[in-house]
Amino acid sequence: MRILLLTHAFNSLTQRLAAELRQRGHLVSVEFDISDAVTEEAAALFAPDLIVAPYLRRAIPASVWQRFVCLIVHPGVVGDRGPSALDWAILQQRSEWGVTVLQAETEMDAGPVWASARFAMRDASKASLYRHEVTQAATAAVLQAVANFSAGNFVPQRPSGSQWQPLVKQADRAIDWQADSSATVLRKVRSADGFPGVADTLFGQPCHVFDAWPEASLRGTPGKVIARRETALLRATVDGAVWLGHVKRPGSIKLPATLAFADEAASVAHANLPDWWRAPAPTWQDIAYEEADGVGYLAFEFYNGAMATHQCERLRDALAWAKQRPTRVLVLLGGHDFWSNGIHLNMIEAASLSGGSAADESWRNINAMNDLALELITTDQQITVAALGGNTGAGGCFLARAADQVWVREGVMLNPHYKNMGNLYGSEYWSYLLPRRVGADAAQAIMRNRQPLTAQGALQLGLTDACLSRDVTVFRAELTAMAAGLAAAPDLPARLTAKIEARARDEAAKPLAAYRNEEMAHMHRNFYGFDSSYHVARHHFVQKSPASWTPRHLALHRELGWVQP
Ligand code: COA
Repeated sequence: MRILLLTHAFNSLTQRLAAELRQRGHLVSVEFDISDAVTEEAAALFAPDLIVAPYLRRAIPASVWQRFVCLIVHPGVVGDRGPSALDWAILQQRSEWGVTVLQAETEMDAGPVWASARFAMRDASKASLYRHEVTQAATAAVLQAVANFSAGNFVPQRPSGSQWQPLVKQADRAIDWQADSSATVLRKVRSADGFPGVADTLFGQPCHVFDAWPEASLRGTPGKVIARRETALLRATVDGAVWLGHVKRPGSIKLPATLAFADEAASVAHANLPDWWRAPAPTWQDIAYEEADGVGYLAFEFYNGAMATHQCERLRDALAWAKQRPTRVLVLLGGHDFWSNGIHLNMIEAASLSGGSAADESWRNINAMNDLALELITTDQQITVAALGGNTGAGGCFLARAADQVWVREGVMLNPHYKNMGNLYGSEYWSYLLPRRVGADAAQAIMRNRQPLTAQGALQLGLTDACLSRDVTVFRAELTAMAAGLAAAPDLPARLTAKIEARARDEAAKPLAAYRNEEMAHMHRNFYGFDSSYHVARHHFVQKSPASWTPRHLALHRELGWVQP
């Protein structure tokens, strides 16, 4: 079938659906929801059999849903209606929730149901639930709905009852620091994370807060900021305290809390952890190390997978320390939602907002990423594994490829290319790491085509080494067993020797420094050259500017020479 994905953005759910539908032989094109006229034009050009809307912020025009069957993905159970489905599910402490695929009609979310799927809720942010449970349920439900549609004889049913839930207002999740328990504060912040955040105050200044984490032991006067650790601030509640990792101040962008309130945070007491070992009780810890069965596990839970200069430097320190441990395998776990999304575009933008140079901060950040990648490539006492349980984009993909093995959870999306960010050339030794895995032609195609890859797709290309189970718990169990097996393998010393010899051969043929210099010459032009595309693209990405057109590589129907089938 010809399926048009009509969406606000090519977000990870839309990417996943496009890939899954293509894998099943459908011709998929994408159009961003920019205006009714543009949607009408896209439908007329592509003449789809079906329109699927994975992520919309506005209603589909009647002129389109009256002519084409339009299926809306609603992140709520059958009968649930309204724009804040997942926010309410968290606030109302639902134990189970779901996704419904329903047909667009005049009334919002009231159309007949083509498919639905349910999932168990988890104590996590809205964005985290969206990236895992919702994406999985939505994928299953959309594939079922498409199968139902193509069967021809399926009659979608209207729900027997429905409940309209209004937009969640800030008053619905306002925090009362003199009354709310830590659990309540966590729930309120998580219901609004990544967007719009909870409207609150810090140091008497208005802001929106995000990225809340529990704290097991530190205590203080309710409402007071009682400690800081790296980028996070700890605020006391009536029964404990909650870490706040990110903040958006009026007129600014979402930033690490200690940067957004740099002056105020300067006088807050530090509560640093003593070392890299995972703390025994819940607390805020962005880099955490554990060991079992001869395997070291290094987790880095960076918000949105973005890695700023200082985070790269600290992770490199942690990696260098972990390499000295008496282990045989070293697994880099990344974070729960993202493994890594490369350099920290918000922090770079912030440098320019505060009168500094975004180019200089970009340069520092990519150098710190490269130093980290180099530390990983040059590991000679352990076999290294990048275990991708969450999505990975741009430089994050090549940082992962710097490990000897890349194992990916089924369901994860990879975006191993840079060009979407204003034609960025990219570094992280990709020009060394990518062609030796997939060949020169495939490497060029991956970079040029800018398409997301599924875990299976990446494996087929040879970009990764294994695809593990989709379920996060099963994935972790498989990963642990595989890593322990690798550590115990009798041929491990021989594998290490072979790796060291291969690296020496590669270095003799062309030193890593040469790859880095070549890449960085391009990056220098991207950051400091006359073409400001990267700076413009980054600004729009960080400011979340609405798209004004759909990129050609997504909208097949807008390609030159497109002929309606
Ligand atoms: N720096 C800062 N923030 C980043 C980021 C980065 N490198 N990558 C993603 N984010 C943020 C987004 O702004 C968004 O923020 P929010 O919490 O305010 O919503 C959040 O992470 C989730 O991103 P989103 O685009 O919604 O996630 P996705 O899973 O749908 O898409 C990517 C993933 C990787 C395709 C997309 O985020 C992307 O293109 N990121 C930029 C990658 C990049 O160009 N890095 C720099 C070059 S190395």
